Amino acid sequence: MVDDSQPETTAIPFDVPTSARAYGWMLGGKDNYDVDRSFLLTTLPDFPECVDIARQNRQFLFRAVRYLTQEAGIRQILDMGCGLPTDNNVHQVARRFAPDTRVVYVDIDPIVLAHGRALLSDDASTTVITADMRDQQSVLEHPEVRRLIDFGEPVGVLFLSVVHHLTDADDPRRILRTVIDGAAPGSHLGLSQVVSNDPARGAEMTAHISQSGIPWQTRTPAELDGLLDGLEPVKPGLVNLADWRPDPDQPPLAPVHPDLAPYIGATRNSKGIYEYGGILRKP
Ligand SMILES: C[S@@+](CC[C@H](N)C(=O)[O-])C[C@H]1O[C@@H](n2cnc3c(N)ncnc32)[C@H](O)[C@@H]1O
Repeated sequence: MVDDSQPETTAIPFDVPTSARAYGWMLGGKDNYDVDRSFLLTTLPDFPECVDIARQNRQFLFRAVRYLTQEAGIRQILDMGCGLPTDNNVHQVARRFAPDTRVVYVDIDPIVLAHGRALLSDDASTTVITADMRDQQSVLEHPEVRRLIDFGEPVGVLFLSVVHHLTDADDPRRILRTVIDGAAPGSHLGLSQVVSNDPARGAEMTAHISQSGIPWQTRTPAELDGLLDGLEPVKPGLVNLADWRPDPDQPPLAPVHPDLAPYIGATRNSKGIYEYGGILRKP
């Protein structure tokens, strides 16, 4: 079910790249434009790890949602910065392991709502809303969030591959902690972001991507860790996502576009930039 009070196509921009469309292309998606593809094709020579880490993140999403529903008993999920629908979306993974799970998808990019409508038209326990996660209050007050999420019960809050879209000026700690700090014990926070152990390389990446108009801040792992005190990391803790409970038998992603194929495997040669994250439990 989608929120019909929201306009169908609120100003989908065609002249600047967007994170949802560029990321979707790296996952094998088709809902992207020249501007998104050119952005990636000019970024990848300098940062060839991006295709691998996008795909590693999406594979982590499957394992994270499986963990939340199958092992942690979570039955309601708030997915901040959910991205364009693809295979094995959060509600589909959740339902595979716990059919009664409710999911609210949140994204700032109106193309996500437009595509979510098609996917969710008959589904009363999953919804997609257009909102800016930097304004947590308006997310929490949204009628669809209030309809589907009961904050008296444990909730799973996801910020997967979105924390790098929050700059320090946005106060990422406030954004990441608003829901989990007020949520019931046993709630879980799943998050990930692009990091570099080398601050100079991270700063180069931040400058390059920010210039495109996509808000971006590459951090060090320690900077992300510093936002998460008081929460209990689920084993193996916060790590390179490729090392978070790897499962060679999980469903594969769609094949990558031929233009991006040369970059597959780049993280085997370079560990300089990677996606870092995990799941934490609220005691
Ligand atoms: C790299 S994609 C990740 C998608 C998905 N979470 C996943 O892990 O597969 C980042 C998404 O965050 C969304 N996003 C970026 N800034 C946002 C904001 N301030 N509020 C809501 N969504 C945002 C983008 O539109 C994009 O769809």
